[in-house]
Amino acid sequence: MTIPPDALRRTGGTAIKRVVFGQQAIADRVRAMGREITEAYPAGDLLLLGLLKGSFIFMADLARAIERPLQVDFMVASSYGQGTTSSGNVRLLYDPATDLAGKHVLVVEDIIDTGRTLQRLLSLLRARQPASLGVCALLDKKIAPPTPEIRFVGFDCPPAFIVGYGLDYAEDYRHLPFVAELG
Ligand code: IMP
Ligand code: MG
Repeated sequence: MTIPPDALRRTGGTAIKRVVFGQQAIADRVRAMGREITEAYPAGDLLLLGLLKGSFIFMADLARAIERPLQVDFMVASSYGQGTTSSGNVRLLYDPATDLAGKHVLVVEDIIDTGRTLQRLLSLLRARQPASLGVCALLDKKIAPPTPEIRFVGFDCPPAFIVGYGLDYAEDYRHLPFVAELG
């Protein structure tokens, strides 16, 4: 896909290798996911629980594509215990103030890579006795073990490091309106 002419301005001159999912493709897919979610939750309280920071743009678009009552909250998670092995726990730096008990909780994620962060979060959230617990991710690298909670996925993602539409590299590039592979 051709790289939009504004991309270089947005990246301060750093080249991106290619656009993986363009603005229109994302908009179309997010609208379709909104319809899927609307149909999947015909009744009950629905809470969209976004994992910051990566989900912030996806969450804003997705919430507006869902045509039923819903609430929105966010979490900030951090894996403590640095290092490459993921023996550490997940700690919530911001814990949603919303009571999860009895609600349909849909965790909104930017991308599922190994799925480790998600696994730990899910067991933590399950303990709060939601009516149901699901995950909606914009992108899935398809290397995480099968996780029945992952109910909605925007796109299968190539095994590259990607940025944009909320996803960062060293806290930059989150504001690109498309998803791109770094050059
Ligand atoms: P996991 O625990 O390995 O599934 O890691 C998931 C988190 O790592 C995501 O929520 C992202 O913040 C980050 N991440 C994984 N892959 C990428 C990528 O290709 N680009 C940017 N961030 C990524
Ligand atoms: Mg990140």
